[in-house]
Amino acid sequence: MKGMNKGKVAKCHEINENLIAEVYELAAQKISDPLLKGIFLFIAHDSRKHAEILKDIAKEYGVTDLNPNDCAKFTGAGYGLMGLLVDAKTKIQKAETDKDILDVIQGIETVESTLVELDREILVDDLPDEEKRIMYKKLITYIEEDEVRHEKIIRSIFDMNNWRIRK
Ligand SMILES: [Fe+2]
Ligand SMILES: [Fe+2]
Repeated sequence: MKGMNKGKVAKCHEINENLIAEVYELAAQKISDPLLKGIFLFIAHDSRKHAEILKDIAKEYGVTDLNPNDCAKFTGAGYGLMGLLVDAKTKIQKAETDKDILDVIQGIETVESTLVELDREILVDDLPDEEKRIMYKKLITYIEEDEVRHEKIIRSIFDMNNWRIRK
Protein backbone atom coordinates (compact mmCIF):
# COMPACT_ATOMS: atom_id res chain seq x y z
CA MET A 1 0.00 0.00 0.00
CA LYS A 2 1.28 3.43 -0.98
CA GLY A 3 2.51 5.55 1.89
CA MET A 4 2.48 2.62 4.30
CA ASN A 5 5.95 3.36 5.64
CA LYS A 6 5.01 6.98 6.31
CA GLY A 7 2.07 5.70 8.29
CA LYS A 8 4.28 3.27 10.20
CA VAL A 9 6.80 6.01 10.97
CA ALA A 10 3.99 8.20 12.34
CA LYS A 11 2.65 5.22 14.33
CA CYS A 12 6.06 4.58 15.90
CA HIS A 13 6.28 8.23 16.91
CA GLU A 14 2.84 7.97 18.42
CA ILE A 15 4.07 5.00 20.48
CA ASN A 16 7.10 7.06 21.60
CA GLU A 17 4.95 10.04 22.58
CA ASN A 18 2.63 7.85 24.63
CA LEU A 19 5.65 6.26 26.33
CA ILE A 20 7.04 9.69 27.20
CA ALA A 21 3.66 10.70 28.55
CA GLU A 22 3.66 7.55 30.72
CA VAL A 23 7.15 8.35 32.04
CA TYR A 24 6.13 11.90 33.00
CA GLU A 25 2.75 10.86 34.38
CA LEU A 26 4.44 8.29 36.58
CA ALA A 27 7.06 10.83 37.68
CA ALA A 28 4.28 13.33 38.47
CA GLN A 29 2.38 10.71 40.43
CA LYS A 30 5.39 9.72 42.52
CA ILE A 31 7.18 13.00 43.12
CA SER A 32 6.23 14.89 46.28
CA ASP A 33 7.34 18.36 45.18
CA PRO A 34 4.17 20.10 43.85
CA LEU A 35 6.00 22.42 41.45
CA LEU A 36 7.82 19.52 39.78
CA LYS A 37 4.58 17.54 39.68
CA GLY A 38 2.98 20.39 37.71
CA ILE A 39 5.90 20.61 35.30
CA PHE A 40 5.84 16.85 34.63
CA LEU A 41 2.08 16.91 34.03
CA PHE A 42 2.52 19.82 31.61
CA ILE A 43 4.96 17.79 29.49
CA ALA A 44 2.85 14.64 29.79
CA HIS A 45 -0.20 16.55 28.56
CA ASP A 46 1.59 17.92 25.51
CA SER A 47 2.95 14.45 24.72
CA ARG A 48 -0.55 12.94 24.78
CA LYS A 49 -1.71 15.68 22.39
CA HIS A 50 1.23 14.95 20.08
CA ALA A 51 0.37 11.25 20.18
CA GLU A 52 -3.21 12.02 19.11
CA ILE A 53 -2.07 13.99 16.05
CA LEU A 54 0.47 11.30 15.09
CA LYS A 55 -2.24 8.67 15.45
CA ASP A 56 -4.41 10.62 13.00
CA ILE A 57 -1.53 10.95 10.51
CA ALA A 58 -0.83 7.19 10.72
CA LYS A 59 -4.52 6.56 10.11
CA GLU A 60 -4.43 8.75 6.98
CA TYR A 61 -1.90 6.24 5.63
CA GLY A 62 -4.01 3.29 6.69
CA VAL A 63 -1.95 2.31 9.74
CA THR A 64 -4.00 1.79 12.89
CA ASP A 65 -1.98 -0.90 14.62
CA LEU A 66 1.70 -1.77 14.85
CA ASN A 67 3.93 -3.93 17.00
CA PRO A 68 6.38 -1.56 18.76
CA ASN A 69 9.15 -4.08 18.07
CA ASP A 70 8.75 -3.37 14.34
CA CYS A 71 9.62 0.30 14.79
CA ALA A 72 13.36 -0.38 14.47
CA LYS A 73 12.69 -1.13 10.78
CA PHE A 74 10.90 2.15 10.11
CA THR A 75 12.62 4.80 12.17
CA GLY A 76 16.24 5.60 12.80
CA ALA A 77 16.57 6.62 16.42
CA GLY A 78 13.10 5.40 17.34
CA TYR A 79 13.91 1.96 18.66
CA GLY A 80 16.77 2.96 20.97
CA LEU A 81 14.56 5.71 22.25
CA MET A 82 11.84 3.22 23.19
CA GLY A 83 14.29 1.13 25.18
CA LEU A 84 15.47 4.23 27.01
CA LEU A 85 11.93 5.23 27.91
CA VAL A 86 10.85 1.77 29.06
CA ASP A 87 13.97 1.70 31.22
CA ALA A 88 13.17 5.14 32.65
CA LYS A 89 9.70 3.96 33.62
CA THR A 90 11.11 0.97 35.50
CA LYS A 91 13.61 3.21 37.31
CA ILE A 92 10.92 5.70 38.33
CA GLN A 93 8.79 2.84 39.65
CA LYS A 94 11.70 1.83 41.88
CA ALA A 95 12.59 5.41 42.89
CA GLU A 96 12.40 6.17 46.58
CA THR A 97 13.06 9.90 46.72
CA ASP A 98 12.38 13.01 44.62
CA LYS A 99 16.09 13.10 43.93
CA ASP A 100 15.95 9.54 42.48
CA ILE A 101 13.13 10.60 40.16
CA LEU A 102 14.99 13.71 39.05
CA ASP A 103 18.07 11.64 38.28
CA VAL A 104 15.99 9.51 35.89
CA ILE A 105 14.50 12.62 34.26
CA GLN A 106 17.98 14.04 33.85
CA GLY A 107 18.97 10.79 32.12
CA ILE A 108 16.29 11.31 29.47
CA GLU A 109 17.01 15.03 29.05
CA THR A 110 18.18 14.51 25.44
CA VAL A 111 14.99 12.70 24.44
CA GLU A 112 13.23 15.97 23.58
CA SER A 113 15.86 17.02 21.04
CA THR A 114 15.86 13.48 19.61
CA LEU A 115 12.12 13.91 19.14
CA VAL A 116 12.64 17.07 17.10
CA GLU A 117 14.81 15.02 14.74
CA LEU A 118 12.19 12.28 14.63
CA ASP A 119 9.42 14.78 13.91
CA ARG A 120 11.28 15.66 10.73
CA GLU A 121 10.93 12.01 9.61
CA ILE A 122 7.18 12.39 9.57
CA LEU A 123 6.12 13.17 6.02
CA VAL A 124 2.66 14.05 4.84
CA ASP A 125 3.62 15.37 1.39
CA ASP A 126 1.60 12.87 -0.60
CA LEU A 127 -1.70 13.15 1.28
CA PRO A 128 -4.24 13.80 -1.46
CA ASP A 129 -6.39 16.15 0.62
CA GLU A 130 -4.70 19.57 0.42
CA GLU A 131 -6.26 20.99 3.58
CA LYS A 132 -5.16 17.99 5.64
CA ARG A 133 -1.69 18.11 4.10
CA ILE A 134 -1.23 21.80 4.98
CA MET A 135 -2.73 21.43 8.44
CA TYR A 136 -0.66 18.36 9.39
CA LYS A 137 2.51 20.09 8.19
CA LYS A 138 1.73 23.01 10.46
CA LEU A 139 0.91 20.73 13.37
CA ILE A 140 4.20 18.85 12.96
CA THR A 141 6.02 22.20 13.14
CA TYR A 142 4.12 23.09 16.30
CA ILE A 143 5.00 19.72 17.82
CA GLU A 144 8.67 20.44 17.10
CA GLU A 145 8.31 23.82 18.84
CA ASP A 146 6.77 22.07 21.85
CA GLU A 147 9.75 19.69 22.06
CA VAL A 148 12.14 22.64 22.10
CA ARG A 149 10.07 24.12 24.93
CA HIS A 150 10.07 20.81 26.80
CA GLU A 151 13.83 20.68 26.67
CA LYS A 152 14.02 24.23 28.03
CA ILE A 153 11.63 23.31 30.84
CA ILE A 154 13.65 20.21 31.77
CA ARG A 155 16.85 22.27 31.74
CA SER A 156 15.29 24.86 34.02
CA ILE A 157 14.36 22.09 36.47
CA PHE A 158 18.02 21.33 36.89
CA ASP A 159 18.90 24.99 37.35
CA MET A 160 16.11 25.17 39.89
CA ASN A 161 17.22 21.88 41.37
CA ASN A 162 20.35 23.57 42.65
CA TRP A 163 18.35 25.51 45.16
CA ARG A 164 15.20 23.46 45.47
CA ILE A 165 16.06 19.79 45.95
CA ARG A 166 19.83 19.50 46.36
CA LYS A 167 19.94 21.74 49.40
FE1 LIG B 1 6.11 15.35 21.99
FE1 LIG C 1 8.26 16.53 24.39
